Amino acid sequence: MRKIYHFDEVDSTQSVMKGLAEEKVPDRSVVFADVQTDGKGRFGRKWVSPAGGLWFSMVLYPQMEPEEAVKLTIIAGIAAVETVKELAGIELKLKWPNDIVHEDAGGGIHKAGGILTETVLGRKKIKYAVIGMGINVNNDMGKEKTGAVSLKKLCGRKIRIKELLKEIITKFDNYYQVLASGGFEPVVEIYRKLSLLTGRKVTVDSGGRTLSGTVKAIDADGSLILATAEGEKKLFAGEVSIVKY
Ligand code: BTN
Repeated sequence: MRKIYHFDEVDSTQSVMKGLAEEKVPDRSVVFADVQTDGKGRFGRKWVSPAGGLWFSMVLYPQMEPEEAVKLTIIAGIAAVETVKELAGIELKLKWPNDIVHEDAGGGIHKAGGILTETVLGRKKIKYAVIGMGINVNNDMGKEKTGAVSLKKLCGRKIRIKELLKEIITKFDNYYQVLASGGFEPVVEIYRKLSLLTGRKVTVDSGGRTLSGTVKAIDADGSLILATAEGEKKLFAGEVSIVKY
């Protein structure tokens, strides 16, 4: 049975959860906090986490190879987008692999949240994974400066943060069961419909190199298929930038 830990303030729910994972807390346990003083984004970036946002981390002990971790990011993203649609009526999209975004009427992309999936390895397999999710819910963003947006700004009202968390983890559980029973293809099919990137010209920083091309597809294993001048490349991780014309 999962445990749920709530804190008024932590440095990062990600760090707290890693500590708990070392103590082998139950699978899918969650740490959430009202405020993070040292929130972590991908690539060592700072994640600004004031009161009013949803900041949480969940631990998993999955039987999977390290490169399969992208599947966890994918199901977390779907769970978030579907929950936000249900509770706030907002249509968000997923920018592979980890960004939760809103596309405005003029085609502008605004980040509403992000997912940080970190794995700790043991004997080449994943010992545990910590999925961290941050969603700008009721916090004020200063959209003009950062390009980020909150759910409150998008739907014009406050959203109950605990309800959002509860629904996201319930949906995550359902998709995780599908994944664990070997049925990832139907999940990817859902992700494809929510994906912002298919058909777009992008550059991708992945494994120390920068690739340019057009996103062809999200593959059955959750990887990104990029059509480049040197042929198709299959990527399991990376940072995607959309090329503007
Ligand atoms: C990203 O888009 O770079 C990922 C951001 C992930 C932020 C969340 S907030 C909860 C958890 N704790 C952290 O310190 N980071 C993740």
